Amino acid sequence: MHHFHYRDGQLHAEDVAVADIAAAAGTPVYVYSLATITRHYRLYAEAMARAAGGPDRAHIFYAMKANSNIAVLETLAGLGAGADVVSEGEIRKAVRAGIPAAKIVFSGVGKTAAELAYAVDAGLYQVNIETEGELELLNRIAAAKGKRQAAVFRVNPDIGAGGHSKITTGSDANKFGVSFSEAERLYARAANMEGIAIKGLAVHIGSLIDELGDLQAAFRRMRQVTAQIRGTGLSVERLDLGGGLGIPYHIPKDFRHGPDLIDAYAEMVSRETGGLDVELGFEPGRIIVGNAGIMVTRALYLNPRQSKQFLVVDAAMNDLVRPAMYEAYHEIWPVNEPQEGGKTVAYDVVGPICESGDTFTEGRVLPEVKPGDLVAFMTAGAYGATMASTYNLRPLIPEVVVKGDRFAVTRPRQTYEDLIGIDRSPNW
Ligand code: LLP
Repeated sequence: MHHFHYRDGQLHAEDVAVADIAAAAGTPVYVYSLATITRHYRLYAEAMARAAGGPDRAHIFYAMKANSNIAVLETLAGLGAGADVVSEGEIRKAVRAGIPAAKIVFSGVGKTAAELAYAVDAGLYQVNIETEGELELLNRIAAAKGKRQAAVFRVNPDIGAGGHSKITTGSDANKFGVSFSEAERLYARAANMEGIAIKGLAVHIGSLIDELGDLQAAFRRMRQVTAQIRGTGLSVERLDLGGGLGIPYHIPKDFRHGPDLIDAYAEMVSRETGGLDVELGFEPGRIIVGNAGIMVTRALYLNPRQSKQFLVVDAAMNDLVRPAMYEAYHEIWPVNEPQEGGKTVAYDVVGPICESGDTFTEGRVLPEVKPGDLVAFMTAGAYGATMASTYNLRPLIPEVVVKGDRFAVTRPRQTYEDLIGIDRSPNW
């Protein structure tokens, strides 16, 4: 379910006309519905609390790489969410948004010494260790500060899943986590380190996962590894099950898929972890924010060819890279509600960037679009703005949040001064 719908012939985000936002903030622009985010978070958190056997046994760490807009983070902080972060920048922004350090887990295969030191000083809930070298470094850093950092091992279960090979993480051929055959040895090492308080295990096998079978197999493997480690007399108190649940990018008319998948997932988690006596952690990203966001763009030109019709819009691959990077599909909705039975045209929708990869879709049949019209790329709330770049020296586009009948620009369009004013010519 989401809060983008037509009313009086105009696409609305909650109770605000998208055209009004475009007029105020310009295009292209990202628009997020806070009601959608709130609804998804609550559904997810309640379901995971049931799966874990109580709210104090389930910890939700929102994967902020999906969408780190300040108002989105503040909304989730207000709902009690923690954060899954992958850089010092994300730690700083989560804390600024009101997510306490004691509710933050730090993931990532390449954390630097400076980042680990920052994490230890901040007092994070947990560091998810991914290599033996990271274990040794974290131990040295924490011990030198007279601290013991709570940590888990991210285990690679050799079960990958996900909507695209570039977002599959759980296979042995992927760079993530320590091999499950190494987990017992590394856990024993960690248990003897003065700078580490080893608490348990983590797993995350991929993103955009619609089928629960691979997740289930991965959780079974975690159960085996937990039993194996406990067999050596060590305790495993935490299991962090990662994120990865998919969302529909082809939006069904009676859209209910997200909540259904959440419930099925919660039941599966409950079955697979039942009786283990662990606290569960979750790192959802896309399922919380994915369909809570759209990117609105204005049609600039038509470029007819013998075999096709190009529709050039003012957004480009630097603003929303998912189609170019993962062949991702995003629905395109005209901001003016199309007439039933109106003319349709097959378009290649492309941006202004100087490479042919700057193509959002090919041969997409849409209600006729004229230069000047606004269209919205749907389901752009996750991995949209956070993956944007300034390629072609295009300023980062604004982000707007909607709450009921109000909207606020929470990140203004980057200025040209911000974009090129930071450059320094060498003074030789
Ligand atoms: N935890 C870890 C350790 C992760 O690496 C990720 C995402 C998540 C949680 C959240 O996964 P989610 O629930 O959002 O699937 N840019 C790609 C997706 C990359 C996902 C990276 N890791 C895309 O646009 O599809």
